[in-house]
Amino acid sequence: MRVSVALCISHCARRQVDFRCGATSVSSTGMEVQGVLTFLGLVWVARWVLHIMVDIVAALRKFVWARLSKDNLPIKYGGKWAVVTGCTDGIGKEYARQLAERGMNILLIARNKDKLNNVKQIIREESLGVETEIVQVDFSHGRVIYQEIARHVEGKNIGILVNNVGMAFSPPKNFVEASEDEVWGHVNVNVASVVAMTQLVLPGMLARGRGAIINVASIGSSCTIPYLGIYSATKAFVDFFSESLSWELRGSGITVQTLRPGAVITNMSNFTEVHRKPSFLVATTKTYVTSALATLGHSGRTTGYWPHGFQVFLMDEIFNRRLCTHMFGWRFRALLKAEQKRVAEEQAKKK
Ligand SMILES: NC(=O)c1ccc[n+]([C@@H]2O[C@H](COP(=O)([O-])OP(=O)(O)OC[C@H]3O[C@@H](n4cnc5c(N)ncnc54)[C@H](OP(=O)(O)O)[C@@H]3O)[C@@H](O)[C@H]2O)c1
Repeated sequence: MRVSVALCISHCARRQVDFRCGATSVSSTGMEVQGVLTFLGLVWVARWVLHIMVDIVAALRKFVWARLSKDNLPIKYGGKWAVVTGCTDGIGKEYARQLAERGMNILLIARNKDKLNNVKQIIREESLGVETEIVQVDFSHGRVIYQEIARHVEGKNIGILVNNVGMAFSPPKNFVEASEDEVWGHVNVNVASVVAMTQLVLPGMLARGRGAIINVASIGSSCTIPYLGIYSATKAFVDFFSESLSWELRGSGITVQTLRPGAVITNMSNFTEVHRKPSFLVATTKTYVTSALATLGHSGRTTGYWPHGFQVFLMDEIFNRRLCTHMFGWRFRALLKAEQKRVAEEQAKKK
């Protein structure tokens, strides 16, 4: 976009357009216009090049430099405990495992008791000496669950909070087909949990003057995603809330990180074939979290994984938001139609 504006300005300058009479001529006014437009074009190009260079330096810092050393997390963030919401699968489970490997005790929060016990067992085997505690709650129930969580948080030095729990239509579908439970589920799970969990742990962190809050948004907060509209809107909320909180907490010793993953192979994303096996843009949870965790303390707002960073660069700088919306819309509409066809064929076979 920016490049095309710059090229357009330079092109106009070369043509020496005389705007007064609408004709192409070599006049003194034309020369002046040429000078101004050339200058503006150069400013645009310089700005764009500078912007890219700053991005490259920032990427090297968070994706290369940050991985060269590993911080002692309990000391750096002033608490031995980490809280991970939605920890029984996908990205949350991997965060719980890797934080435990780095010496953190883990408060495991999710809704399924068996799966919680399974993660607890895995951590016990992989990370000797690390304590775990389970909180079985369903975030879709909203406000009522936080008293129970507060009971478990009380008395613990929470160094890190990972606001990871999230839900999405899987596969994507029309908003008009969403049930009331699904609508409120998105709000309670994706939005309310982030704010309410932050409100629970932040006072303790502020009192100690240290701590880290990782808010898992999505690359989808960069543009609107038809058929996952509530999801992308809730992730935009997380993105905005997290960034403004980060600003408010400057100088407090508390790190607030906004994480915006692209595709990671999990239950949530497996509705399409391309998300089921690793590729340049599709990461396994292990690859993703290893990279994302290394960026903590080095980047306040990041995709957490450099190929996803490259994807955001394309979305923000080369395409624009409107085009991305169309691209997602067309892709998911095709997916939806294929799914409807498959269901219809299956039903026809049964008859
Ligand atoms: N995967 C991606 O490509 C991707 C991309 C961008 C952003 N993200 C974000 O990353 C985060 C994790 O996603 P994921 O892909 O790892 O998802 P996932 O594999 O579906 O795991 C979600 C976790 O949250 C738990 N959970 C879901 N609903 C819950 C509820 N109502 N109450 C309590 N726990 C609940 C799940 O428990 P159960 O096992 O009981 O369901 C599971 O442990 C989400 O915030 C998501 O938006 C993911």
